[in-house]
Amino acid sequence: MLAWIRAIRPVEGHAVREKTVDLGEAERFIALFCRENGGDPQARMRQVAREVARTGSYTHTPEELAFGARVAWRNSNRCIGRLYWRSLRVRDRRAVTTAEGIALECVTHLREAAVGGKIRPTITVFAPDRPGRDAPRIVNEQLIRYAGYRADDGTIVGDPRNVELTELALKLGWRGRGGRFDVLPVVIHPGRGKPLLCNLPGDAVLEVPLAHPDYGWFAELGLRWHAVPAIANMCLEIGGICYPCAPFNGWYMGTEIGARNLADEDRYDLLPVIARRLGLDVRNERTLWRDHALVELNVAVLHSFELAGVTMTDHHTESRRFMKHLEKESRAGRVCPADWSWIVPPMSGSATPVFHRYYDESVLSPAFVHHGE
Ligand code: ARG
Repeated sequence: MLAWIRAIRPVEGHAVREKTVDLGEAERFIALFCRENGGDPQARMRQVAREVARTGSYTHTPEELAFGARVAWRNSNRCIGRLYWRSLRVRDRRAVTTAEGIALECVTHLREAAVGGKIRPTITVFAPDRPGRDAPRIVNEQLIRYAGYRADDGTIVGDPRNVELTELALKLGWRGRGGRFDVLPVVIHPGRGKPLLCNLPGDAVLEVPLAHPDYGWFAELGLRWHAVPAIANMCLEIGGICYPCAPFNGWYMGTEIGARNLADEDRYDLLPVIARRLGLDVRNERTLWRDHALVELNVAVLHSFELAGVTMTDHHTESRRFMKHLEKESRAGRVCPADWSWIVPPMSGSATPVFHRYYDESVLSPAFVHHGE
């Protein structure tokens, strides 16, 4: 059954956190939890303090964990899709502490998050770090990543963003096919011992081939993208507890793929290719060939996901929803922190309402954070 899981040589370890949980952070979270869900914060804090005194850490109730994960999403100031933060499905897998167990649950996560193409925002929370004992973590930035193979002459086949991860996977014994859209294995680093490579089974990786509604040649470019963006290398921090392994997914907004992954010069860099197929003059910037190509690529992305019956949003709809979210949060008496440079879509910014204002830049907890930040 575990044929697709193989244990190999260790990669470099991570620093073990020695600290006991900060009671101030725990207290702020418990107060927030009780404010929004009811309950007696003092009574709960007495329990928490006792457990911390005894063990250096404490255990969230399933309700606290689910609320903490949802609020971490609500507090994600780079995310435009926060209107539905309450709907996050929380898979409580804190009892899973081995790399093998994590691999299996990640596969189940991916299957459950995209049943029949309907994407459900989902998080799977694995064991937290405890004082003196680090829990396993996932090395991949996302559960699904395409390989980037660097040749000796410096050219790259695939996604240049994942060259390092690809080299690591190869070093650990993975055999890539050398294609442009090869799904990388998930590399799981256990607290101690050897890392594990997990090849994702095909049925866990829903992908959409890209075609354009008006240009037949577009499909010949052989482009595709995966349906589920599942961030895998951020810590979920709740009330002083760090869950280093807590992969979470939403659904895609078209521009993430069409205006960044496939378009950026240091990613798949497809604008010149598409512009030439469109017959545009690419020697003269003032023909706006980049802009034309960008629009057609994004039309193709949205069209293809729609055709495949896979959930995806567009940047105009999502911008309006975000404005509604801001309004709802303000009515609830909360600040909604946001980072303008991430919220404004990477194309047609000023044609969306999120462009024309400033945002509160405070950093709130619970939160998703990058290790070491
Ligand atoms: N921008 C990233 C990508 O293109 C995904 C980030 C999360 N996106 C989301 N819609 N939840 O792969």
